[in-house]
Amino acid sequence: MKRLVIGNWKMNPATATLAQKLVKGITEALKKDSRLSAIIAPPFPFLSVVGKLHPRLSLAAQSLSHKKEGPYTGEVSATMLRSLGVSCVIVGHSERRALGETDEMINLKVLLALKEKISPIICVGEKERDTHGKYFSIVEEQLTRALLGVSKVQLAHVVIAYEPVWAISKGDGKGETATPEHAHEMKLFIQKVLVSLYGRQVAMKVPVIYGGSVNPQNVEELAEKSEADGFLVGGASVNVDSFITILKAAHHE
Ligand code: PGA
Repeated sequence: MKRLVIGNWKMNPATATLAQKLVKGITEALKKDSRLSAIIAPPFPFLSVVGKLHPRLSLAAQSLSHKKEGPYTGEVSATMLRSLGVSCVIVGHSERRALGETDEMINLKVLLALKEKISPIICVGEKERDTHGKYFSIVEEQLTRALLGVSKVQLAHVVIAYEPVWAISKGDGKGETATPEHAHEMKLFIQKVLVSLYGRQVAMKVPVIYGGSVNPQNVEELAEKSEADGFLVGGASVNVDSFITILKAAHHE
């Protein structure tokens, strides 16, 4: 199975030199094993440092502005990302939502990314699990609102990442992981929502990936049992050995 593996470096590493070293390590591993491919989401200043060093290495951004252009200090537009060769962008990560990103802003970002032919990786996930299954309606609402105005044709370029907030690590990739059953159940639910919005034919082609403390210890089980179409890896993606182990497990079958 061909899975998407996205390394979300978050606000790491500390310098451009270290970023270069990290991407070099990943590139070396790709050269040695033709089954492997990866998408790297470095911080904005390192986008051109990471670049596109290998045909099986794609460049992603961790966010983008919800504005197209203009007087927005500190913002980075979809068009700018496109001009740097960025092919995917993480949208609606819970760490961005915690800083004030709303569903409306997330929707605008999704639409701007798609307009520039950049695939949005839309993150959805509940903060906590209750016993009444309220988390399903939370995910449904996040999903529906993020996709407002997205056409069937555009949906073919969308990736959904289920990232339960309670499973995201504090930076070391070693938080409380969702079980493969949690991830699988939510994948089925997300597909059901997509089918109701877009019909079966297009909806079932959308990759639904899992993120939240994916690490070398749990990746095999997740790959085997969760049926996730890939992984969004945070903490464990800034260590070459950990990330390569994850890539190998994800591309195993
Ligand atoms: P984590 O982060 O792997 O460190 O839990 C995942 C993410 O936030 O994308």
